[in-house]
Amino acid sequence: MSVHVSLGSRSYDIHIGTGNLSDAGTLLAAFKPVSLAVVLTDTNVQSFGYAQRVAASIADAGINARVLSVSAGEASKSIETADSLWQTLLEDGTDRKAVLVAVGGGVIGDLGGFVAATFARGIRFFQIPTTLLAQVDSSVGGKVGIDLPKAKNMVGAFHQPLAVLIDTQTLQTLPEEQYRSGLGEVVKYGESLDAGLFEYLESGVEKINRRDNDVLQKIVAGCCRIKADIVAEDEYETAGRRILLNYGHTFAHSFEIMSGYTLLHGLAVSAGSICAAKLALKLNLIDAALLRRFIHLHQALHLPAETPERYARKEAVALMYSDKKTEFGELHFVLPTGLGQCKTVKCTPQTVLDSVAE
Ligand code: NAD
Ligand code: GLY
Repeated sequence: MSVHVSLGSRSYDIHIGTGNLSDAGTLLAAFKPVSLAVVLTDTNVQSFGYAQRVAASIADAGINARVLSVSAGEASKSIETADSLWQTLLEDGTDRKAVLVAVGGGVIGDLGGFVAATFARGIRFFQIPTTLLAQVDSSVGGKVGIDLPKAKNMVGAFHQPLAVLIDTQTLQTLPEEQYRSGLGEVVKYGESLDAGLFEYLESGVEKINRRDNDVLQKIVAGCCRIKADIVAEDEYETAGRRILLNYGHTFAHSFEIMSGYTLLHGLAVSAGSICAAKLALKLNLIDAALLRRFIHLHQALHLPAETPERYARKEAVALMYSDKKTEFGELHFVLPTGLGQCKTVKCTPQTVLDSVAE
């Protein structure tokens, strides 16, 4: 399966399959001349052999490849890690015909993309995402970056990849919590942007829970299609369309901060989506039956379906309004207006608090 991301001269294809990591070499060869493929991965992903398989396939296609590995985890999205990668690229004589190949989750995609966007004023990069969250979200759309100690994703760029290669077989080794985190983003797409996807998820709960590869391929392709269309319309998030991908994210952001980032992003989004749906109900944008349907799917997929009990609701709402840019004391939320439909709505803190009180 493939999904085209239509961005003029920056257009690219997302290739989705199962057991297709070894297509990396053939796909990269289409972009020759390539002086060197720098395959960036993390220590966990490396232990499963995915980066080595990608590097071997690239070498078979007649392109020099070397593997670089950084520590697994969000802490690697730092200026220190970026600096050490820039130094290594320099010492290796990496030139502008090199390609950085990111094999890993969103951390490796964001970090690798940032290093590629900045080294020698920009080299090409190729995304091979291995978490569900990265396959359905972070590898598509060109947002790359690193964190500052007090602000996530604060330094970055838009740098579209040459191509994205997705092997859903890699999801079989993903820890359960990471898999659920990715599902949180998948359900987000269904609830806010695609009724057909939501219905497909409802009908496939059992297969999704046992990570059936055929179902995963369809889900990943569906999510990539939704994101690709939105990115094609609003690449730089200036036209009011790309922001719709942030359904559930305003609440989620507060939950993540309050947990000291121990709550995984997609699980925070899952809880945040239900909060947004409750707010939509309060504003009569949806009815109670639709909210119940959302909650039911979250429960069936073992996803959070509540404001996390351990976070005082008042505190979470106060944090949202202090942390984000408000307009005359009001914040913009992406709220559902029906199944697979959403829009942005301005709300006061009191309305938000009232909506999540029950
Ligand atoms: P991650 O990259 O940290 O991966 C999660 C964990 O799974 C890591 O420990 C990793 O080593 C491990 N892992 C990866 N693939 C595996 C596999 N196949 N088998 C076993 N273990 C595997 O986290 P993530 O959830 O993929 O991504 C989160 C990051 O993505 C955050 O930094 C977030 O800011 C970013 N993000 C970016 C965008 C964007 O548009 N650029 C969108 C959403 C999230
Ligand atoms: N993850 C939101 C975006 O890419 O815009």
